[in-house]
Amino acid sequence: MTIAEDLARTIIDPKAYSNREVVDAAFAQIRSQHPLDKAVLEGIEPFWVVSRHADIKEIERQPEIFHNGDKSTFMTTIEGTERTKMLTGGDPNLIRSLVSLDGQEHKALRGVVFPHVTPRAIKPLEDAIRGIAREFVDHMLSFDGEVDFAQDVAFLYPLRVIMTVLGVPQEDEPFMLKLTQELFNNADPELNRARAELSPEDMLKSLWETTMELETYFKAVTEKFRANPTDQINSLIANAKVDGEYLNHRQLMGYYIIAATAGHDTTSNTTAGAMWALAERPQLLKAMQDDPNRINAFVEESIRWEVPVKHFMRSAVSDCEIGGQAIRAGDWLMLSYQSANRDEAVWTDPFEFRIDRESNPQIAFGYGVHVCLGQHLARMEMRILWEELFKRLKSVELSGPGERTISNFVCGPKHVPIRFTVN
Ligand code: HEM
Repeated sequence: MTIAEDLARTIIDPKAYSNREVVDAAFAQIRSQHPLDKAVLEGIEPFWVVSRHADIKEIERQPEIFHNGDKSTFMTTIEGTERTKMLTGGDPNLIRSLVSLDGQEHKALRGVVFPHVTPRAIKPLEDAIRGIAREFVDHMLSFDGEVDFAQDVAFLYPLRVIMTVLGVPQEDEPFMLKLTQELFNNADPELNRARAELSPEDMLKSLWETTMELETYFKAVTEKFRANPTDQINSLIANAKVDGEYLNHRQLMGYYIIAATAGHDTTSNTTAGAMWALAERPQLLKAMQDDPNRINAFVEESIRWEVPVKHFMRSAVSDCEIGGQAIRAGDWLMLSYQSANRDEAVWTDPFEFRIDRESNPQIAFGYGVHVCLGQHLARMEMRILWEELFKRLKSVELSGPGERTISNFVCGPKHVPIRFTVN
């Protein structure tokens, strides 16, 4: 048996993700009828769709069997992979970052930044982040009652936080935002490099151009931080040595690029989605103002709800069994975090936004050895923003229809128009 073609097409269609209900409905059907089954579509290597929370965990628990880097780490066509290999000299991934590394190389590189992003290590950043949050709350309130929260707040605040942590000057933030959006939203004519509908060939070309532009930028970053090291993350990357050697060109570039892009777009999408959910549910603001301890539950639920990273791919290196299905060496698998975060076996009412859940084992940060490196920073910066904003906000509602990005990878709301009053 395979997954019905229309469902398989929906779950990889960037346009479908611009209407989340469509994708949620497709995955609900997949979970109930084919929770772990193959999708076979023309032009795409057949892939297993892993839709259940438990199966994703089981796969991510076994990184020696399920590799990240042997095939493309995100959904693409056979032609896309072939062209990528031509550009990179054989690597199926354009960018060689942590998410496309395995084994010792992954462990060694992850170890460069990991000690600096634990809850204890980031605690001293709290005051600086609160200062940034206050600035953006003031900025929002300066809009006098109506604002596009996605464009004017959610896309800018996490950008400022991560760039400060990395050591990127403020004047470079618009460049970083533009190139990140080009990289993650290539299918969206409002955000991609050409600002147009692109053919698959032109999509890859524009991804390559964006990557090259980022590489030019980061080459200078390496020189700067090797000459004058600091404790900022880009400096740690520039000066890191594995077995006595600096990271090679692709390792360095991949590291800078993932930190500078994954470090804000994910959090921005979650923040924008959280405001959208809040604006539709007036009782939530009051509940959190009555008991600010509930803000943590709000943050956790907004991460589950928004799931800004829709999937990552794995490939099996040996035969094994997952969820009763025989997986063969060489098989390609799509881990759908969006589906896992709606899994009826884990949540009784997965399609409700609730801050009173007894437990919320959301898996939007992934799991296992690749679990999101920035998860504690992301949680902390969102909590602080809401703490600062809710002190001042009296009411909020949508002032027009929200709009989502056209993308099947890292995406979320791109417009969240709201009307608000302040205390
Ligand atoms: C709500 C915000 C975020 C979400 C939902 C998110 C989600 C994810 C997911 C799903 C993965 C892959 C995990 C896996 O394969 O199991 C990942 C990896 C990663 N994330 Fe995040 N992320 C967020 C914020 C951040 C931030 C703020 C940073 C910046 C420091 C960051 C940096 C990374 C890095 C470097 C990796 C690669 C880790 C590895 O492969 O070892 N992320 N993230």
